Order: sequence, then structure tokens, then C-alpha cells
Amino acid sequence: MKQMHPLYIALDFSDGERAIHFLEVNKLQGVPVKVGMELFYKEGPLIVQQLRKRGHPVFLDVKVHDIPNTAEGAVRSLASLDIDVLTVHAQGGKEMMHRAKQAAGEVRVLAVTHLTSMTEEVLKEELGVHDAMEEIIPRLAVQAEESGVDGVVCSVHEVSSIKAETGKDFLTLTPGIRLEGEPSHDQKRTATPERARENGADVIVVGRAITQAKDPRSVYDYIKKELERNEPG
Ligand code: C5P
Repeated sequence: MKQMHPLYIALDFSDGERAIHFLEVNKLQGVPVKVGMELFYKEGPLIVQQLRKRGHPVFLDVKVHDIPNTAEGAVRSLASLDIDVLTVHAQGGKEMMHRAKQAAGEVRVLAVTHLTSMTEEVLKEELGVHDAMEEIIPRLAVQAEESGVDGVVCSVHEVSSIKAETGKDFLTLTPGIRLEGEPSHDQKRTATPERARENGADVIVVGRAITQAKDPRSVYDYIKKELERNEPG
């Protein structure tokens, strides 16, 4: 099974040239990166090849969500790229997640529970879902584990309740990371890297806190060090 890294930088750039320029200018050679929809839809598999050629481990975050048969085919296509991990939506259901996992081979599969931009208000008022987020998310995580995928994507706030319901090898990956006092942008359920570590998140994804920083390399190094601290708190 492919290895995952503790920290991925989200390369939410509009094209490959900008993404690679950002990595080169800021001396972020070889760091693990996340390629999301914006970049992948623009550049396709070529961007993964370019990043791999430069030594970057790649997390491909295109959140597959379709009927099980289509999702399985999509994951088979994605897993033929040289990537560590890819994502599907847990809300696609257990059969979809299971077939995605079967198609992924050595590539890890993580299921997105709810986007970290989602709020209970939106769930209730726009989607007609009345259960509390803290009930829905561990439930989706248990379904994800039962389907056989390797872990879930969730906010830092949900890591401990998920860990309480799932096995010790079941991974949690958390986006929505912000440094103390930073703007949260469109994210609603944010937390600091320190809190992510304290709560037991296995992997974190950081986008704008690094890509929009004055000195992205020093913020990357700071977060990496925070994650490596092993004393509690
Ligand atoms: O800039 P920021 O750190 O908020 O970026 C977070 C990244 O994580 C984005 O690329 C977003 O697509 C992704 N993500 C998320 N919430 C999820 C799953 C993925 O924010 N539940």
C-alpha cells in the first residue's frame, strides 16, 4: 500500500505553470502536494507527471461521487497515475466506496465525510438534513470503514469522535487548517496545526495558510515541526 505523508500543501492554482512556479520560487522542492479539481481539470494527468518528475508525492483530491460503476471506472483511471492517495465522497454510499477501493489497487482511498466549508445551518435549511453534524460525521466514517476504504477526510473537530468509533489503523486527514488569528476564508470548521496534532489527525492538508503567506517555506517548516512535536498538548 502507498505511504502517506503527514503534511500536504494544497496546490489550488489555476494552472500548472503557476503551481510549479510557486514551488520553485519558494524552494519547496519535493514536498508532498495535493492536486485538486482546479488544477487537475485544467492540466489533466500531465500535472501529476510533472510533479512526480520533480519528486513531489501527490495526493489527488478530485472527490469522486457517482453511481458505483462509474465511480469504480473513474478511480481505476486515476489510480493508474503515480499518486499516493485519492478521494471519494462518503455520501456516494458504501457500495460506491467499496468499488472505488477495489479499483484503486495500491493507491490509498479516503472518503470525504462533509466538506469543512459545510455548516449545520446549510444542512438543515438547504438540504433538509436535521441530524447534528457530530452524529452524521462519525456515522459516515463508520460506513466508510465498513466499505473498506483507508480513512476519511474530516475537520479537526471530528477526529476524536471518529477515532472512538473506528479501528486504530483507520486514517483521518484534516483540511481547514489555519494559523492562530488568520482569516478562515470560505472554511467554517477550522483549527490550528497544533490542535490537529493534539486531536490525533494522521495527515493534514494546508492550502492558503501556506500558499498566500509572505514566506511560504517558513510557514511550511513551522507546521511540519509542530506536527513532529510528540509531547501531548
Ligand atoms: O486553502 P485551504 O487550506 O482552506 O484549502 C483546503 C483544501 O482542502 C482545499 O483544496 C479543499 O478543496 C480541500 N478540502 C476541504 N475540505 C474537505 C475536503 C477537501 O477543504 N472536506
